[in-house]
Amino acid sequence: MQTYQDYDPNTLPWPELDQPALERLRAVPFWQEVFYTERRAGAIVKAFTETVKDPVLKEAIALQGAEEARHAELIRVMITRYGIDAVELPMETLSADVETAFKDFGFGECVDSFLGFGVFKIARQSGFLPESMFKIFDVLMYEETRHIVFFVNWMAYQQARRGFFARSALPLIAFRYYIRAFKRMLGTARRGAEKNDGREFTATQASIFLDGFTFRGFLEDCYAENRRRLSEFDAEMLTPSFLPQLTETALAALRLWSFRSQPQPSA
Ligand SMILES: [Fe+2]
Ligand SMILES: [Fe+2]
Repeated sequence: MQTYQDYDPNTLPWPELDQPALERLRAVPFWQEVFYTERRAGAIVKAFTETVKDPVLKEAIALQGAEEARHAELIRVMITRYGIDAVELPMETLSADVETAFKDFGFGECVDSFLGFGVFKIARQSGFLPESMFKIFDVLMYEETRHIVFFVNWMAYQQARRGFFARSALPLIAFRYYIRAFKRMLGTARRGAEKNDGREFTATQASIFLDGFTFRGFLEDCYAENRRRLSEFDAEMLTPSFLPQLTETALAALRLWSFRSQPQPSA
């Protein structure tokens, strides 16, 4: 609540885009999915807020719900302003088990943010769009960082209140939710790939992103960006650790691998 920023998506300093930048923005194949995801996020968090008894938590979670709804509004403003081809999909019926839906959503945000931080950095560095556009989206990234920090602390607090065994089981519970989040993400990617025929990135548009792209470089960006963004928060707070730790291990293995596969210097 202390780090809340007040703004109206309609009055943000949206830049004028020249034709090539406009075409690149319009060619991004996932705006419709992002728009839907933010609307769905707002709906889930709002539904969960109504079940929360603790007044302080209720206020914080309500604020998150309002921010998710504002993200959806921000995407809507962008779609309209720049004439992006994305429609408002009908909202699914949300699960009656709102607490599980909120937890699934929270772990999903941890995964999405970790990867999103890396993608954001690569896109920003490539100059895919003007910096003024990235400044606007940086606000959104900052809010997502606040959400995941809040979420992992809330999750730990919930378990701790249930006693020693529940608290000890947290890593296992978190692991199960992460697996579910990955499965959902793969499902979304598959659906996206099926639906997006005809509006894929053209080779030239994609090459702006993919020039010099390596998986290891991507992981390194995700890891470093995650660390940088999370370091802004109070050091006593928990931060999501599953993906950073997994990535740290993967990067160490990749480094060892590339070291071992170096050709031996000849005598
Ligand atoms: Fe959001
Ligand atoms: Fe969020």
